[in-house]
Amino acid sequence: MSDGFATRAIHAGQEADPTTGSVIVPIHATSTYAQDGVGGMRGGYEYSRTGNPTRTALEECLAALEGGRHGRAFASGMAATDAVLRATLRPGDHLVIPDDAYGGTFRLVDKVLSGWGIEYTPAPVSDVDAVRAAIRPNTKVIWVETPTNPLLNVGDIAALAQVSRDAGTKLVVDNTFASPYLQQPLELGANVVVHSTTKYLGGHSDVVGGAVVTSDDELAEQVAFLQNGAGAVPGPFDAFLTLRGVKTLAVRMERHSANAERIVAALVDHPKVAKVLYPGLPEHPGHEVAAKQMRHFGGMVSFLHADGEEAALEVCSRTRLFTLAESLGGVESLIEHPGRMTHASTEGSMLQVPSDLVRLSVGIEEADDLVEDLLTALG
Ligand SMILES: Cc1ncc(COP(=O)(O)O)c(C=O)c1O
Repeated sequence: MSDGFATRAIHAGQEADPTTGSVIVPIHATSTYAQDGVGGMRGGYEYSRTGNPTRTALEECLAALEGGRHGRAFASGMAATDAVLRATLRPGDHLVIPDDAYGGTFRLVDKVLSGWGIEYTPAPVSDVDAVRAAIRPNTKVIWVETPTNPLLNVGDIAALAQVSRDAGTKLVVDNTFASPYLQQPLELGANVVVHSTTKYLGGHSDVVGGAVVTSDDELAEQVAFLQNGAGAVPGPFDAFLTLRGVKTLAVRMERHSANAERIVAALVDHPKVAKVLYPGLPEHPGHEVAAKQMRHFGGMVSFLHADGEEAALEVCSRTRLFTLAESLGGVESLIEHPGRMTHASTEGSMLQVPSDLVRLSVGIEEADDLVEDLLTALG
């Protein structure tokens, strides 16, 4: 019998240190490793850009959590995204991206990769036919976030995997919003999973990182080659912090999801709220798909303010417990205005987000305190 999720989070890749018995994987703060004669590596390591034992522990754990054969850790979610796109695309190739992709992913595709001759088409991830229609003869990758950042749209991973297989493309799922505890895209047919481990996996807003997990041996080799060749690796302390966060992922995600549901219940009929975007709501267009492919509906909630942009901006600066800040997935609650903050890079593009949109990353504080804070800020 294979170990359950919470057990893997604490033990996978994290055996006690063979020399000291240290229960916790040590921070291997070294750039290089002594060799017994030229090429005689003692523990399989020669240089820490190529490999480091603390990073290996994190990579093995992340692979085990996503149910993939290979895990690779990066210095940020964007570095992981960049590695996957450069491993899968060549000049002249095309990819499909969500029409509400994370702003940084859009910027990378639109401003960096386009300069290297890579073309893209935005399509709504919630519309399988629209994604299929966006595929061209030179499409190599279908890039999906689900739920999406910040509009919380939901893509049917199994259906999109079928579309991808039919077209001979790779389906990449950015699983940052759900985390592997809530959703496991590889099991649903995706080829690759990408994470900003900065978010729920790290979970404490104290480290920036990224990860790639896949069971595609050839692609894993290319990603590993780029990890070493381009060198966007996390240091051992970053790997340690992320691994420490991962140990509590299961209990945190339970609480994030339960608290988010309390917040949603308080917002849904509020006169200052025009619309709540949350896949847990029965009226959310992606509710059924989310219920099928996710364990709970997650800790991210967005809403449209009934009184427009200025009012949305005001709420963001009036909360006491929800800190006005970018990022998400930490134990503390955060509030932000995507149009002016995380998604400012989409302004004027097809991916521009509504100006009256507020995004919440619901933390694991007392739900009553969070509800009171928000209701006070809404006035
Ligand atoms: C869905 C998603 N993917 C990728 C990233 C990029 O991750 P990082 O900030 O760790 O580079 C983010 C960051 O907010 C994100 O929300």
